[in-house]
Amino acid sequence: MPEKLVSVAVDGPVGAGKSSIARAAARKLGFIYVDTGALYRAVGLYCRRSGADMSSHDDIAARLPEIRTEIRLIDGVQHIFLNGEDVSEEIRLPEISMAASAVSAVPAVRAALLDMQRKLARENNVIMDGRDIGTVVLPDAEVKIFLTAAPEIRAKRRYDELCAKGVSATFEEVLADLNKRDYDDSHRAVAPLKQAEDAVLADTSGLDFEQSCELVCSIIKEKL
Ligand code: DC
Repeated sequence: MPEKLVSVAVDGPVGAGKSSIARAAARKLGFIYVDTGALYRAVGLYCRRSGADMSSHDDIAARLPEIRTEIRLIDGVQHIFLNGEDVSEEIRLPEISMAASAVSAVPAVRAALLDMQRKLARENNVIMDGRDIGTVVLPDAEVKIFLTAAPEIRAKRRYDELCAKGVSATFEEVLADLNKRDYDDSHRAVAPLKQAEDAVLADTSGLDFEQSCELVCSIIKEKL
């Protein structure tokens, strides 16, 4: 373990395998894995539950004082709490993906979640995944990786995941959702999804899970 705390930023579009690959790499390195999308999902869940107008930045921002999100590690696994309730499962539903993307475009939401993410990196060796980790949250991260794959391949992976969980959706729906979310996430005014100038591009289109993990771990080892 290096003496100085180390941050690894993994950004990329929907379904690039960020979370599963970053989690596996974190286990190998003994780092903490932080899934920042879960924070936006928890805020999206609250806004949906409380009947917010998801197209109104003002309506979403006005609810922030009612929202307390917390990341807790339980047996090394990240759980996300919304006002004290463990919502780790519920935030994975497809409708919450869209809600997360909507709230993530609201500047006040991003500002409210920024300190929490930076604090985790100040106190731990982290691999943090998201959309703006290398560009905004941890611009001084020792390692930055932009993980991607062709849209159809990412949609197929996401579709298989949903089927395995028993969530009903067609491949076409999953692909359309993914394209919309990537478009919205890359075109918002604040902290849009984009590759940091000093990030290494990792395209996993032709790679299976093991090979993708090896690629990411080799990039990390080379930089540390
Ligand atoms: O990674 P994910 O699919 O769980 O993220 C859900 C949404 O949250 C995603 O569409 C965009 C937003 N997000 C973000 O804007 N910035 C991050 N660092 C992480 C997620």
